[in-house]
Amino acid sequence: MSFTVAIDGPAAAGKGTISRAVAERFGLAHLDTGLLYRATGAKVLDGMKPLAAAEALRAEDLKRDDLRTGDVARAASQVAAIPEVRAALVTFQRAFAQRQGGAVLDGRDIGTVICPEAQVKLFVTASDNVRADRRYREMKGSGMDVTPEGVLADLRERDVRDSGRLAAPLKPAEDAVMLDTSQMSIEDAVAKAIEIISAAR
Ligand code: C5P
Repeated sequence: MSFTVAIDGPAAAGKGTISRAVAERFGLAHLDTGLLYRATGAKVLDGMKPLAAAEALRAEDLKRDDLRTGDVARAASQVAAIPEVRAALVTFQRAFAQRQGGAVLDGRDIGTVICPEAQVKLFVTASDNVRADRRYREMKGSGMDVTPEGVLADLRERDVRDSGRLAAPLKPAEDAVMLDTSQMSIEDAVAKAIEIISAAR
């Protein structure tokens, strides 16, 4: 049986950084499942239909330079509400989770839908203002033309859509460990995640 860590939570709560760090620490493969939805959204912005875009996804689509823009994030959250799109992406994610040597998957529905049998489930949160501030710095730092208010509004819009949709809404699994990173440095958040995973390993 392979070892699977499921890390879910809203945008910019720290999932990505925590997932990369624990994958490295425990020698696990890592899949940022948000990239699947972002790459699908980017293809839709190029003019494809959502389901066709999801079915046509290739590894190189996950490396596009524009996946971190606000437009692509919004398109990702829109295609992610379509049940057929989600269904088209399930097999790849479950196969990744079954890798020999174990895997970390981060997203919105990993603990609830993709890997309900995961050995460790973390639900990472932070206050809206902390998340918006982190995402603003990140986007600004990579040269994007954004304002703090705009980033906050976009995050809230995405959270409402991701939590309110019928298909695999963003919510903690019943057995998820909650990790609120609002008052934590990234080092502390990573250390806490490592402690929780070590206890389950
Ligand atoms: O995690 P990230 O912000 O890159 O995800 C982009 C969008 O993809 C999210 O807002 C959400 O709508 C969708 N998503 C999802 N399920 C996942 C991962 C991401 O619905 N497992």
